[in-house]
Amino acid sequence: MNYEHKITICLGSSCFSRGNKEILDIVKGYLKDHNLEHNVFFSGELCTGLCAEGPVLKIDEKVYKLVNNENVFEILNEYFNKQENIS
Ligand code: FES
Repeated sequence: MNYEHKITICLGSSCFSRGNKEILDIVKGYLKDHNLEHNVFFSGELCTGLCAEGPVLKIDEKVYKLVNNENVFEILNEYFNKQENIS
């Protein structure tokens, strides 16, 4: 399958303790709600050394640091040009 985009979330222990599990669930739900599941390959990766600025999320070549359960919606909306209400 050819995906147009790729999202990677750090699954290292530091990012885990900073809440990446919740972010992972939010991203999964977002992709589903916006019918992006077939267009975006979503996967985890091991620690890339950015722990102090985690949780870390990558969308294609762009790296987002200090991602939390609020700004993750802004990040996704901005990247995928969606204007939906993020409440
Ligand atoms: S655990 Fe995520 S960058 Fe190190």
